[in-house]
Amino acid sequence: MLTGIGNMAWLGAATLFILSLRGLSHPASARRGNLYGVAGMTIAVLATLLVTAGAGLQIAIVAAVVGGGVGAVLARRVEMTQMPQLVAVLHSFVGLAATLIGFANFLAPSGPAIGVERAIHDTEIYVGAFIGTITFSGSIVAFLKLQGTLGGKPLVLPARHAMNAIALAVCVVLGYRFVAVPDAPQALYALIAMCVIAAALGVHLVMAIGGADMPVVVSMLNSYSGWAAAATGFMLDNDLLVTTGALVGSSGAILSYIMCRAMNRGFVSVILGGFGAATSTSSAAPQGEVVATSVDEVSALLRDAAEVVIVPGYGMAVAQAQGTISEITRRLRAAGVRVRFGIHPVAGRLPGHMNVLLAEAKVPYDIVLEMDEINEDFTSTDVVLVIGANDIVNPGAQEDAGSPIAGMPVLEVWKARTVVVSKRSMATGYAGVDNPLFYKENTRMLFGDAKGSVDALLRQLETA
Ligand code: TAP
Repeated sequence: MLTGIGNMAWLGAATLFILSLRGLSHPASARRGNLYGVAGMTIAVLATLLVTAGAGLQIAIVAAVVGGGVGAVLARRVEMTQMPQLVAVLHSFVGLAATLIGFANFLAPSGPAIGVERAIHDTEIYVGAFIGTITFSGSIVAFLKLQGTLGGKPLVLPARHAMNAIALAVCVVLGYRFVAVPDAPQALYALIAMCVIAAALGVHLVMAIGGADMPVVVSMLNSYSGWAAAATGFMLDNDLLVTTGALVGSSGAILSYIMCRAMNRGFVSVILGGFGAATSTSSAAPQGEVVATSVDEVSALLRDAAEVVIVPGYGMAVAQAQGTISEITRRLRAAGVRVRFGIHPVAGRLPGHMNVLLAEAKVPYDIVLEMDEINEDFTSTDVVLVIGANDIVNPGAQEDAGSPIAGMPVLEVWKARTVVVSKRSMATGYAGVDNPLFYKENTRMLFGDAKGSVDALLRQLETA
């Protein structure tokens, strides 16, 4: 009876997770998608507790309440700009859970499996612990890098690919020992040794990746955490965990692929790690003069324009300027100016960062365009308003082969008649590279906090 209810619940939860992913694929349906996910997870947790916890039900409920409480407090406290760090930490938990469950399964096997069945089960434990440990240590390093505790520079050790390959080969040999001699203490030693090597491998793979390429790493680790969860599902004989893990694993892999394409990087080189280090560094300082502008001047430019494109970046999120920008957009459109937004796939600090903020601020979806949709229109644009963006509008990515972001597709804003850049200083962005855009003849720098600048701009537009 309980198993029947469990199966039904798991099927329902899996369906809700698929609907959730579908909903999350567009800003208009994202809220609904989130609700599907919450409903699916609630059903999954309740059904799992009911069906599988048995005598451990009380402990499981206490753990779920404590864990849920900590999660709720963290989620409430975290700033939108700290989301990538939070996501990295959450991935590390999934990885650690997979490893710990692997050990628990090995030390206290649930059934007297023998022969091939046992070999398969031991393989599941070993693979789960392997993926889990890489995910755990890699995610911790990703967290420290995103937090700024560790520098963004890639660590490029000599013969690092060979080192990774040797580590992998040793893990395979240890795996053979683990499965072939399952009872002896050697099996436990093999499992522990593999975890130490896998932890070092995870650290090394992520350490070798440069700051500008971290977005891809975060989504790769997201994918790894899904596969770790799926492996745990195999260990625990839990079909829902297998399905959910596979959904997370494959959607994370698809997202990584999309981001790789957006940043013009090879998918395989990301999986292998060690990418993002520029082969040479550009020594050429940007040429030209920096021209500062004022709110009055920008307001006049905008009022006289027929075509305006707004390009938001990380600084807009920091300043929380999206509400005022939405109001400026409404005002300009009412005055007959065609206003659109150009969104780079890695603008901000997490996938969809800008879309979420603009949706929150009620900017209509149909004027928010992807980079590929708007890039050709800059030549016929009168004014581009860059709000707190830097790397994603850096022409050096196309013009300077030695740049760490060389080859990354960027929004070609410099092709517009006038570009106004709102930021506080001449400081670099996430990738730490100078931006020649700020020195171009048609660029005007509107220095100051983005929120202060756009608030003043809105006031000016209202009184004009
Ligand atoms: P960035 O290149 O990081 O530039 C943001 C700019 O905003 C900075 O140069 C900063 O200049 C300015 N800024 C900061 N606070 C501000 C404020 N209060 N008011 C006005 N300006 C402010 O951002 P981007 O152009 O959005 O590019 C994203 C970068 O992050 C890429 O390199 C990308 O690879 C990386 N990244 C992306 C993700 C994802 S998934 N989106 C995840 C991790 C990393 P000032 O200090 O002079 O104000």
